[in-house]
This record gives sequence, C-alpha cells and structure tokens, in this order.
Amino acid sequence: MSEEIYDIAVIGAGPGGYHAAIRAAQFGAKVALIEKEKLGGTCLNWGCIPTKALYASSELIQKIKTHGEEFGVKCSMELDFAKAVERKNKVVNELVEGIGGLQKVWKNDVYMGHGKIVGGNKDDGFEIAIEGEENTTIKSKRIIIATGSSPALIPAFNIDHERILTSDDILDPNFKEVPKRLLVIGAGVIGCEFANIFATFGSKVTMLEYLPSPIATEEPMVVRELQKKFDELEIELHVSQNVLSVENTGNGIKATTCSADVPRDEVDNAEKNTFEADYCLVSIGRAKESGDLGLEELGIETERGAIKVNSDKLETSVEGIYAIGDVTGGVMLAHVASYEGDIAVENALTSIGGFPTKERTTNYSVVPATIFTSPNIGSVGLRRKDAKEKGIKVSMGRFTFESLGKAKCMGETEGFILVLANKETGEIVGASCIGAEAPELIAEIALAMQHGLNVHDIGATIHSHPTISEMVLEGVEDTYGMAIHKRGRPDPHFGKSH
Ligand code: NAI
Repeated sequence: MSEEIYDIAVIGAGPGGYHAAIRAAQFGAKVALIEKEKLGGTCLNWGCIPTKALYASSELIQKIKTHGEEFGVKCSMELDFAKAVERKNKVVNELVEGIGGLQKVWKNDVYMGHGKIVGGNKDDGFEIAIEGEENTTIKSKRIIIATGSSPALIPAFNIDHERILTSDDILDPNFKEVPKRLLVIGAGVIGCEFANIFATFGSKVTMLEYLPSPIATEEPMVVRELQKKFDELEIELHVSQNVLSVENTGNGIKATTCSADVPRDEVDNAEKNTFEADYCLVSIGRAKESGDLGLEELGIETERGAIKVNSDKLETSVEGIYAIGDVTGGVMLAHVASYEGDIAVENALTSIGGFPTKERTTNYSVVPATIFTSPNIGSVGLRRKDAKEKGIKVSMGRFTFESLGKAKCMGETEGFILVLANKETGEIVGASCIGAEAPELIAEIALAMQHGLNVHDIGATIHSHPTISEMVLEGVEDTYGMAIHKRGRPDPHFGKSH
C-alpha cells in the first residue's frame, strides 16, 4: 500500500465523480480518482454526449429536408450513418482525453481499475483496494462514491447485446448500422431520443410504452407537440403495452405484448400483439451500480440498490463516506450528479478541517431537465398538474415560436414555451418548452427561480433582439396578459402586491 493518505478518494469518474475530484483539488485537497472503464462515465461515453453528437447529425438532416429548398439550398442527400458515428466517436474521445488532462492539471491521481472499500473509518482513514491495470490499495480520509447506473435489464427481454440492445450497445463505437426496422421498448427520455435519431436516418421505428403516454414526466401539452413530430417521422407509438417477452429470431427480433390494463394473473389468457423488427432497443430506466463496492461489509445501507444518504449532506450511513449521483437513486441526471459532487466535496473537506470550505446542504427545488428530441424539450419546476396538487394557483403564460421574429428567420417555428407563475406572488413556479433551444431557454428560468425572481423582474430585463431568448420574455409577460406579440388580457398589477 502506498504511504500517501489522500484527503478524498472518488470512486467513479462520471460527471459526478470527475467533477467532484476537480472541485476537491481546487480547494487544495489531495485527490485520488478511481475508474474501472472510461473517464467521463456513462454521460461522456454511452449517454449524453454521444447521443447529442448523433442528434446534431439528425438535426442537420431534418433541417435540410424540411427547409432546404425554402432556404435556397437545393441538394440531393446521401445519408452516411457510419460517418456520423465516426464523428460521434471523435467528439467522445476528445472529451474523454480532456477529462484526463484536467485531472493532470489538478495533480489528481487517476487509478484505472475497480475500487472496493475494504476497511477503515473516518478517524484513521479508509482503505480502497483497486483491481485493474495494476492492483494496489490506497488510503483516504474521506470517500465519495459516484458509481452511477447502468441500463436496467429485465430477464424476459433476453438482452443479448446482439439484436436486443441497451443504449450502451447502440452507442458502441462500432455500431454503425441503421436498422431497417427498430423496435424501442420504453418511450422515456432515452427511447424518444433514439427514436428521433434513427427515424431521421431512415429506420422504421416502433415504440412500446407501458404507461398511457410517452415521457409521462413532461407537461401533456408538450408531449402532444412531440407526438405530432413523431407522426411526421412515421414513428409508430403504442402506449399501454405490457411487454411480455422479446426473442432474437436469428435475423431479427420478435416482441410479444398484451394490454397494460390486463391484471398480472390474467396475462396468460389475454389477447397478445406481436411486433417484429431487425433490432430492439430496451430503454426502460436504469439500475444503480452499487455492487461489489464493499458496502455490506462496512455497513453502508442501501435500498433496492440505491446507496442511502442523509438527504441534505449526502453522507452515507458510515461517517466519512459520501455518495452522489445516480447510485443514490435520486434525480438521475448528469448535472444533478455534478451539483451533488460540489456539496459532498465541501462537506467532506469541512469535516476534515483546514480547507476553505463550509458545510452545505442540497436543494432540489430547481432542477432543469432536457430532452434532445426534435424539437428539443426543456423543463424546470412544477408542471400544471403538480401545482394543482400542491394547491398553488397559477397563471400560465404561453408563447409560440411561430410568433417570434428570430424563430421565423431560422425556420424554427414549431413549439412553444409555457411559464407558470404563482397567481398571488408572481413568482415563477415552473416552465416547459418545446422548440428550438428549449434547454437553453429553460436555463434562464432556472436562474430566475433559484433566486426567487418574479415575472416582472424578468420582464424588466433587457433581452437582446432578435434572439430566441425573447421567448422567455414574451412567455413571462403573457402570464399577466402583456406579451407584446400576442393578444392578452392585461393585468399590469399581477403579482406586484408582494
Ligand atoms: P425513463 O425512466 O426516462 O423512461 C423509461 C420508460 O420506460 C418509462 O416511460 C417507463 O414507463 C417505460 N417502461 C418501463 N418498463 C417498461 C416495460 N416493461 N415495457 C414498456 N415500457 C416500459 O428511463 P430511460 O429513458 O431509460 O432514461 C434513464 C435515465 O437517464 C432517466 O433518468 C433520464 O432522465 C436519464 N437521461 C437523461 C437524458 C437527458 O437529460 N437528456 C438523456 C438520456 C437519459
């Protein structure tokens, strides 16, 4: 074992872990970062980044197809998915290298191997055995577990990674084929993003979803708008489907379903539907990666695979060991993991003492979310249904891209922004957007919400013209009927009494 004692050892180098490692070094800590596969984790290698690189190709194709001639660009198009995959691989590799470079800059020691906590405590330090390129054991005063999640596997779906695939398989650097027919099980975030990409590249995409709606977490009006686009792309969506089995038939796949309304004990006798395709993508959620970390031996509590943390400080049931990101089973988003990394680092270093840090607690009231379908979707805060359930009376502002000058110039006229403001205070309680740059627009609303700004505060902010950011201004002003480019019922005093 090396003599050196690290201040913080981070297990897992995804957007939670690598971010935490850099943040800890910025505060002057001696840091070890342990990763068993690739720096950047799921986000960089099999998730956010590769999908967005492929999405960029599909967006370009759609733009030329739908607007090319109108914009004065006449061309015949030949699609080359393999080339798009090569570009995606290049983007991924450059970013992964960048993460390695940053760790060097901050003098963090990177260990490529599987880390397992094998003993210790917060007073004497913890030992972590690393098995990998070289086997070694290191010692650290504090540990942050950031091991993430992996695609959920259901035995009945017979995921063989050949024809029946996870998102990891379909994003493999060598998967360069456009399936003629692709069946997607699960119309959540991942399913919808891939459906859009592959349908654009020419696949006949069929989706099976258990719930009565795709991406059921989003505002129903937004989902309806997305469905219009899916219809244009001839994506066939079947909701309320209970997928009973998926088989590899040798040169394709076959899935059998029945209605999700059929009670469990009547499934055998229920009417069945079958779906055939060349490949099947299973995207039904993700499982926490908490196995073989030495948790049980140390007494770190878990619940259905999720590492339990005290909700606001992110410390596990063993003092000195923290957990962040997907492995805690919270909001499974890369940016939430990074945010949690900041909090865990400050709490860990404060508990050691001598670092310029202070204790921090988590606050999840404002978490923006994005979905890179075409059009993009972004949302933050409450949906209308949530506000109603919480008894918050809201005024809704709605503004369409069709009515915005810049969006018209860009040919990006699909979609709208919805802004929900508290009827009494004018405070923004949530927003949803589908359309060009939706995730970027939502970032402004998130900032406003985080700092308790009211609709008039945004209304009084000069927004550059002509920009897509004016969608926010008009959407906010429409909550009190005073959007300039929309007829409304003006209420200049709305929310001003507070
Ligand atoms: P998800 O939870 O978003 O969607 C899974 C879908 O599968 C749900 O609609 C669910 O009802 C359905 N489902 C579950 N079991 C099923 C079954 N047996 N048959 C048919 N449908 C079934 O999970 P997803 O899409 O796998 O994404 C995983 C995580 O990754 C999510 O937390 C998501 O937020 C995150 N992610 C975020 C992205 C982003 O921020 N742009 C991109 C991709 C993923």
